[in-house]
Parts: sequence; structure tokens; C-alpha cells
Amino acid sequence: EENTMDQIVGLCKRRGFLFQSSEIYGGVNGFWDYGPLGTELKRNVRDAWWKDMVGAHDEFSTLPNATKPFSMVGLESSIIMHPQVWKVSGHYDLFHDHMVDCTETNKRYRFDHVQGRWAEAEKKTKSDDGTETSSTVKAFITTIAQADETQDALVAQALKFFGLKGKYKDKINWTSELLSLEKIDQLSEAVAPDASKAGTFTEPREFNLMFKTTLGALGGEDDAAFLRPETAQGMFVNFKNVVDSSRVKIPFGICQIGKSFRNEITPRNFTFRSREFEQMEIEFFCYPGESSEWYTYWRNRRYNWYTSLGISPDNLILREHHKEELAHYSVGTADIEYAFPFLPQGEYGELEGVAHRGDFDLRSHMEGKLDKDLNVQLNEHDQPKYRGSGKDLSYFDDQSRERFIPHVIEPSAGADRATLAFLCEAYTVDEAPDDKGKMQSRTLLKFHPRLAPIKAAVFPLIKKEGMPEAAAGIYRELREAGINSTFDQQGAIGRRYRRQDEIGTPYCITVDGQTAEDQTVTIRDRDSLEQVRVPLNKVTEEIQGRLKG
Ligand code: GAP
Repeated sequence: EENTMDQIVGLCKRRGFLFQSSEIYGGVNGFWDYGPLGTELKRNVRDAWWKDMVGAHDEFSTLPNATKPFSMVGLESSIIMHPQVWKVSGHYDLFHDHMVDCTETNKRYRFDHVQGRWAEAEKKTKSDDGTETSSTVKAFITTIAQADETQDALVAQALKFFGLKGKYKDKINWTSELLSLEKIDQLSEAVAPDASKAGTFTEPREFNLMFKTTLGALGGEDDAAFLRPETAQGMFVNFKNVVDSSRVKIPFGICQIGKSFRNEITPRNFTFRSREFEQMEIEFFCYPGESSEWYTYWRNRRYNWYTSLGISPDNLILREHHKEELAHYSVGTADIEYAFPFLPQGEYGELEGVAHRGDFDLRSHMEGKLDKDLNVQLNEHDQPKYRGSGKDLSYFDDQSRERFIPHVIEPSAGADRATLAFLCEAYTVDEAPDDKGKMQSRTLLKFHPRLAPIKAAVFPLIKKEGMPEAAAGIYRELREAGINSTFDQQGAIGRRYRRQDEIGTPYCITVDGQTAEDQTVTIRDRDSLEQVRVPLNKVTEEIQGRLKG
């Protein structure tokens, strides 16, 4: 029997939510195209984010002594930026993944997500006197298991485990505390079928995730440029422009939705890890003294955004990073994670990271990047390895007459991952009566009405007695009111309802024999299946009311 994820993927293709990119040529790994319904769904996700984050700028803060609204402004920065941006941001040196090649199958696997963590973990396998013991190996495995991409961590762990197994055979009984052997086998088999062949993997090698391209016709190394791996840097380098041009006062946020690119070694799990994806990022600039409170504020506000759009708190966690997981400049980071159906029970995949970044980014773009920031030996004069812009990115507070570098809270979400989570959450199989009243299994997408690609479907019960004309009139009125609707007169009414259930349309409006008599139609609710009669001339108003909730 097909598992839930396969069924969701099947539905997405069948009904036009998502297609493999360049499918007629066999596809290209890590790239996806949104079909007609997927396009509407993802647009609704983006619009909801923009409306709730940027539009809701007059929302009062929950901070005890804040009484003023704060500004949230938009930005659309370019995908290709000055190459120095990525040197100063650290991406040029540190944005690596590790890959291992299987010498038997010539396949390549992603070894671990974060550079540095691996080395850090390996250090833990040595006790103070330099020897490896089962408890230090256990610490090593524990660190890997805490990596932010849980499933990859497990695979990495499994790969490493098979290498270590022989060596520690007599000492290893701690694996059963962390994970059963069976589970390691199962995971490595599922994700990297060759992992069980011990000794066939090359050592992990570094691989920069940025896509490289060339500016202009000459194409030398000096003309190398990168497709942005995050939208965030666009906000940092425009900080001064925004402050100088828009009269924003701290605290305020800059928001951006846009494409980012990462040359992931093993893209997988549908759109979850793609090579081209869209981010929805906020850089929130605040007084250093208030940054901890804003960090808490944004963690909660972003968590609540997902639940307000239908994600059940049972499937969503806010996971605070352990101290050792944090980048050296970060005061705190929390991930908002969802129980995707492709993950083992009890495991979660990252939807969004909310990071307290201190003044690290603005300061780097002012002063450049010191060697010590890049985790390499200081050179003699502690000169920056990469020069910053030299521009003053500090902020002058005209109330206190003080100049300082603001702290930054960064809620960074993925539009495609959020869309996938909303799809997975909406996917439901229940039972409903067919045309003859017999209970039948039914597949539906229980989208929040704000996210549903189509809000209402209008059906004439039969193709005569003026019903198509009356239905067309309602359809037109709904469209004119800006409500994305559809008109369907093909097939039995039960089949038409099912077609709409399967794509998540919350309301179906049917013109029937009674309409000509009393000028009413039925409105059927997707989830409760309840049908009520509403006057013809009140349909648009009724749907508008229901969509507002
Ligand atoms: N500026 C911070 C930053 O980019 P990140 O955790 O690397 O942080 C933020 O990315 C979000 O972007 C993730 O939580 C995820 O939703 C999305 N994302 C990152 N890599 C992705 C990929 N390969 N495919 C799809 N979404 C991705």
C-alpha cells in the first residue's frame, strides 16, 4: 500500500499542484514547477505572510514598555550581489556541506549539514588524554544526532557507524540507548541504500553550496559571481539605504520574499530540500538591550502564524538550539519544525529558523571579516581577511542622542517548505455519502480558507431550466468580488463535489430545481458537509463572510 507521502505526491501531480521540472526531458533533480493550483496555493502562502508580517505593522508589541507600533517595510534585492558580500557574510568560506562518494555505486551523498559541527563532534570522540572510549564515541554520535537536519544526521550517523562498528564492536552497547540497530539499518537503507556496505565510502569532502556564475563576456575568475543562497544579505547591505530613505525608527523590520539557490548534494523529500527555493525572511533591527525580548516575541509570533493557518500544534514544535549547535556569534536560535509524513514518527523537519544574530552582520559589512570570525588562525596584525564596505552602518537614536549598531532578530522561513507543510497537514481521507447515500472513502485537502487555491465552486445541478445561466451569474459575481472561483457543469453532482474536495475548495454552491421557485441556492461546506440554503443575491456576501472567518 502507498504511504501517505506517496499519495500526497500523486495528488499533487494529478491535480496540478506540483510537477518535476523539465519533466518531458526526464526531469532535473532538485527543481520543481508549480502547476495551476500549486501556483495559487503558494501565492496564498506568500500573500498571507506578507499581509500578516508587513501589513500588520501597526500591531502593538507584547513588550511591557512598548507603546508604539513598529514599522515593517519591504525590500526586493537582486539575486546576484557583489561577490564581496558572500566573503564578508562567511558563505564563501563556511557555507559548505560534506559529501561522500560511494566507490561501488559512484553515488554521492550529503554527509552533514553544517561545517564545523563534524570536526567539533570528532573532537568529542577523544578523551582528555587523546584516547577514544565508548563514552566519547557516544558523545560524538549524540552531537551528530542533534544536527538540525534530523534525517541527514541519522544517515551520517549510520554511515559513520558502519565505519566504526568493527572497531568498537566489543564496547558498543550505547547504540541501543540512542537508536536501535534496526532503525539505523532501516534509515540508511531508505535514504542511502549503499550505506550498509561498510568501507566503501570515501572520506567526507567539502563542497560549497553556492551556485557560481560569470559576469560579462570575459569570464575570468575575477568575474565570478554567485546566486544568493539566502535573501538576508540583501537586507543587511541595504540597511542604511532603508533608514535614510524611509524614516523608519528602531525597532523596525525589513522583509523580503525571493528565490534563493543552494547546490544541495542530495535534494530530496519532494520540495523539502530543493536547489532553487523561495525564502520569506525578516531582519528585525532593535536596541541591543531589548533584543532578548524581541527574540522571544518573534519565536512566538512566527510559531503562531503557522497554527493560525491550520497547522495543528500537535504537529509543530519550537525547538531551541543547544548551546553547542549555535554559531559563535549567535545568542540564541530556535527552529520551528513540522512532523512531515516522510519523516519517521516523532521526528520533525525545519520550516523556519528564528535567530538572534546580535550585531554580527551589520558589523561584518562595516569592518570586514577577521580571520578569527572564519575560524582560522589570526594573522599577525589581525587584519581583516576580507575588507568590509567601510560604510558606517550604525544607527543614531535621536531620543537618547546615542549611536550604536542595532541587534538583529532574523525569522527566516521557506515558502516552499511552508507550502509543503500546509499540503501535508490538509491531506485527509474520510468517509462521505455518495449520490445514493452510500458511504464512500473521500480524499480532501482541508486547507485554511485563506490558503485554498479556489475558494468557491459553482454548479448548475442540470444543464437546463435556466440553471447554467443562474450559476454563471453567481460565478461572475464572485470573480468580480475578487474571490477565486470555478464553474463546473460536467458529471454527477457527487463527482463534482469530490473533485473540489480533492483540491481543497472550501465551498460549493449549487443551483437546483428549487432556485427558480424561491431564488435560493445551496452552499456546501467541505469539512462538515453541511448544506444550507442562501438567497441567490446574498451568495457573494455569505462567502465573503465565511472567508473572513
Ligand atoms: N538567512 C538564514 C537562512 O537562510 P536557513 O536555515 O539556511 O537560514 C532558512 O534557511 C529557511 O529556508 C529554512 O528554514 C527552510 O525553510 C528554507 N530552506 C533552506 N534551504 C532549503 C532548501 N534546500 N530547499 C527548500 N527550502 C530551504
